[in-house]
Amino acid sequence: GPNRPHPAPRLTFRNVLPNNDDALTVPRGYEQHVIVRWGDPVLPGAPEFDIDNLTAEAQAQQFGYNCDYVGFHLLDDDHGLLWVNHEYTNERIMFAGYTGGADADPEQIRVTMAAHGGSLVEIERVGRSGQWKLSEGERAFNRRIHTSTPFVLSGPAAGHDLLKTEADPTGTEVLGMLNNCSGGMTPWGTFLSAEENFNQYFGNAPGTAETNRYGLGTGASSRRWDRVEERFDLSKHPNEANRFGYVVEIDPLDPESAPVKRTMLGRFKHEAANTILAADDRVVVYLGDDERFDYMYKFVSDGQYVEGSRRHNMTLLDSGTLYVAKLSGNSPAEEIDGSGALPSDGEFDGTGEWIALCNATESFVDGFSVAEVLVYTRLAADAAGATKMDRPEDFEPSPVTGKVYCALTNNSAREPGQADEPNPRGPNRYGHILEIVEDGEDNAATTFGWNVPLVCGDPENDDTYYAGFDKSKVMPISAPDNLAFDKHGNLWISTDGQPGSLDTADALHVMPVEGRFRGELKTFATVPHRAEACGPFITEDNKTVFIAPQHPGDDGTFESPTSTWPDGDFPRPSVACIWHKAGRDVGQ
Ligand code: FEO
Ligand code: CA
Ligand code: CA
Ligand code: CA
Repeated sequence: GPNRPHPAPRLTFRNVLPNNDDALTVPRGYEQHVIVRWGDPVLPGAPEFDIDNLTAEAQAQQFGYNCDYVGFHLLDDDHGLLWVNHEYTNERIMFAGYTGGADADPEQIRVTMAAHGGSLVEIERVGRSGQWKLSEGERAFNRRIHTSTPFVLSGPAAGHDLLKTEADPTGTEVLGMLNNCSGGMTPWGTFLSAEENFNQYFGNAPGTAETNRYGLGTGASSRRWDRVEERFDLSKHPNEANRFGYVVEIDPLDPESAPVKRTMLGRFKHEAANTILAADDRVVVYLGDDERFDYMYKFVSDGQYVEGSRRHNMTLLDSGTLYVAKLSGNSPAEEIDGSGALPSDGEFDGTGEWIALCNATESFVDGFSVAEVLVYTRLAADAAGATKMDRPEDFEPSPVTGKVYCALTNNSAREPGQADEPNPRGPNRYGHILEIVEDGEDNAATTFGWNVPLVCGDPENDDTYYAGFDKSKVMPISAPDNLAFDKHGNLWISTDGQPGSLDTADALHVMPVEGRFRGELKTFATVPHRAEACGPFITEDNKTVFIAPQHPGDDGTFESPTSTWPDGDFPRPSVACIWHKAGRDVGQ
């Protein structure tokens, strides 16, 4: 369970001011260093990067494209393993003259397939500082996972007819993971990586209720991966798309192990997967489905976590109960008018329940088998009457308090009349943060209280709320996306969409959520032109922030780049670290 709360020192660093610089900007007294870039060698013997001669064979050994989730496993005081998701590719800035998948050289398509997935790289501390760099040692754990890597499907839906294909009549093996956005770590030291917008890789869907609900298009895909692998054509291989959209578990300490898609955690546009132990040591995983009007989920394992029993713990995500959230406000509906004005009780807040969809052997949704709940989770949650949210992105429990936070990034399609207390603005241009307090301080509880501590935007505007903190002393924020906690339980919030909504670079913000400075949101870093601020990960010693500026210069082309970060020539999605020059804790 959660540790005892202890008073957090006030965040004393000087804000990075809003800007549109093509740079990773950090507070006064801090430094930053780019650790690893797209194309850097990952596997021993990998070729050096050559942007004018990209090959799939080289890319499969080199660091992939657009970095989102960053996880970190400490090996010893001075060495660690960095896991990075490679969510997707920007072909127009990778290749000269790229006009679309229909015309692309098939080798270009193969390069992009190899640039997806994830990388595991060994890094080492520089001196005694909070700076880290690529390790020059043996790098025995280094690993590239991409679209040709074999994965195992496990859990109750594995082997079901819905998952069988011509290439895999067992329904238990699949090549690759797609569009892995954010993720999380388990208490037993594995990484969870979330397949998000997997629909965009497939073409020629049959247009059924099931394929439509997942956004699978009936026409050709833009990337046209089906030109090099027929399985991406759903008219020929209709079940292939059912094998994507899962949470993937990756064991960083076993380079030979196949990553595992955990069907028990459901299939949707998984944003992330963050775990905490319940009062009785069962494992709880919080899961967001990032789509306008989609849902928040959680999984509670049947078995209990056993310290030191890695083999046992690696079975925990295959059996348990999958729930979806239903929220009720406590203010009269007529007081929620979509403007963001607070209701008369002074807070957007209320109660909620976790509706069980299924466990490993029994479905609780009429008309759905267990496998159907797990493969068509969105439709099962529709039937269960879950609350339609404003794009649930990262959904993460505080390791200090056990309270849970969900980033609702925005929802341009919510009409004023569709506003409700948990989604109080229509349209919701700037997003908000939801705080959940599980009943009995037990993360396995089936009922909870909730409130909205942060309604994002320009604090000078009336429709924003910073947990009641003095808004003349806080920073603007829009489009909250990835979340993380430092050791004091401060909530770190990275954004994806400030350029379009606030006309400033995306940023990494941090906000206390306990004590008298709750709501005092500050800006710790801003990222290069058109990048979103991914990661973040704060090390356990609180000396380092890892950050992944994703898709710098994504409005440019190979011929006319709009970002030159990080090397001064063309954009290269990369992971950097930020640390205090004098060795203070980050945020101080
Ligand atoms: Fe890949 Fe929901 O962000
Ligand atoms: Ca209220
Ligand atoms: Ca995201
Ligand atoms: Ca996170």
